[in-house]
Amino acid sequence: MKTLVTYMSQTGNTKKIAEAIYGELEGEKAIKPISEVKDLEGYDLAFIGFPILQFDIPPVVKNFLSASTKGKKIAIFMTHAVPEGFEAIHSWTGSYEQAAAGAKILGAFDCQGELAQPIIDMLLKADDPQMKAFGEMGPSTKGQPDESRVKKAKAFAKEVQAKA
Ligand SMILES: Cc1cc2nc3c(=O)[nH]c(=O)nc-3n(C[C@H](O)[C@H](O)[C@H](O)COP(=O)(O)O)c2cc1C
Repeated sequence: MKTLVTYMSQTGNTKKIAEAIYGELEGEKAIKPISEVKDLEGYDLAFIGFPILQFDIPPVVKNFLSASTKGKKIAIFMTHAVPEGFEAIHSWTGSYEQAAAGAKILGAFDCQGELAQPIIDMLLKADDPQMKAFGEMGPSTKGQPDESRVKKAKAFAKEVQAKA
């Protein structure tokens, strides 16, 4: 079995989870930023990871999912600033199901990731009260994803690979 871990990550949180997943995988494997992946040709399974940006999945990831996952076994992993279980998360992340409608989605994992300081500073200056509230939440995200989240990501990797 050949497995790919591919991700988009601007401040390293999703990359940290990607590397944890990659480390757990058995068999032939590769890890690459999504910008370096043309298609999933030759892979039996792909883990695809990204941060939640602006209450949605990043457009570049949405395009990749629509264009390249038809008929493929994939698993999704995501990081976001809000705590896990936050009410609105599903409405932000649900669009990956639509974008990857032709794929066999074997699982999805999400966890909190630290909000980078320049982003906190920018959000605190925003006029939109929802954005400002995000900025105020920023310090509580420090150090995420922590060891306990990394451990859950590793368990997720094993679970998905066993299903594939
Ligand atoms: C422009 C921007 C928009 C964001 N929007 C959201 C959001 O809508 N909801 C959320 O929970 N986190 C949001 N975040 C936080 C990121 O999802 C979080 O910090 C993530 O872990 C970043 O992953 P990365 O380090 O792999 O880039 C946003 C971050 C940025 C930079």
